[in-house]
Amino acid sequence: MKHYLQFNDLSADEYTYLFERAALIKKKFKAYEKHHPLVDRTLAMIFEKASTRTRVSFEAGMYQLGGSVVHLTTGDSQLGRAEPIEDSAKVISRMVDLVMIRTYEQTKIESFAAHSRVPVINGLTNEFHPCQILADIFTFIEHRGSIQGKTVAWVGDGNNMANTWLQAAALLGFKVHVSTPRGYEVDEKLAGATAGSYQFFSDPLEACKGADLVTTDVWTSMGYEAENEERKKAFADWCVDAEMMAAAKPDALFMHCLPAHRGEEVEADVIDGPQSVVWDEAENRMHAQKALMEYLLLGRVA
Ligand code: CP
Ligand code: NVA
Repeated sequence: MKHYLQFNDLSADEYTYLFERAALIKKKFKAYEKHHPLVDRTLAMIFEKASTRTRVSFEAGMYQLGGSVVHLTTGDSQLGRAEPIEDSAKVISRMVDLVMIRTYEQTKIESFAAHSRVPVINGLTNEFHPCQILADIFTFIEHRGSIQGKTVAWVGDGNNMANTWLQAAALLGFKVHVSTPRGYEVDEKLAGATAGSYQFFSDPLEACKGADLVTTDVWTSMGYEAENEERKKAFADWCVDAEMMAAAKPDALFMHCLPAHRGEEVEADVIDGPQSVVWDEAENRMHAQKALMEYLLLGRVA
């Protein structure tokens, strides 16, 4: 049994399979062709933080695969009334085939997985967001081909998205230029950053130079709302604008996991401009996660 708690829970070889599989599953979806490998399988989705994309992509995706879903939140389950995570894992995993969790600390999802009889997927923690990077790399491949040897510029907070980009770069052989304000750096150790896959820049414009992809995320992630005003001041220069995009390669793409705050981490003319692929990126959450769910439950089918 495999869990998907961090990006490096799968190998480069498994990602090659998943990206090909996601492309096939997407093609079938676009052609209104039925693809029901998960009939009679149930996915439990546990949300301890808000979501739009993750909820819709997993729920619609699971139904499209022929399965069904159960949606739980902290507020409407015993999770919000201090039932131990270990007990919740033992009970829920006796009734469903797969679990997706969005929560706070990575240790929480690890405890759940340690007591689960079924595969567990990380739908975002404070530390990582592997499903998003899975979709982002799939989107890059669709537009530009292999990401190997390419350069991704990360402008902004050293958060769950940034940590996951670093893990992916070390595993799949590309480079991430990271620029964060002082005090908001990535956790290099947690992300397993290697010299060849990671370079820090104090100036965000420098980080964008020669990049194949420029990407950013909100200044304040979920769970850090109390720091919002302080962050607005610290991040003022970390707004992806036309000048930063001009410093990147002429055919560079722009991505953002969304939700976005135009005028904060990105200017409207960039996110709504011709280099932005954010809507493909959001849609691809569903296709990539369908491939992931199929793989975790059935293994390689092609
Ligand atoms: N990108 C992403 O995970 O979006 P949601 O918070 O809407 O799920
Ligand atoms: N870094 C953001 C991503 C939201 C999808 C957060 O954790 O809130």
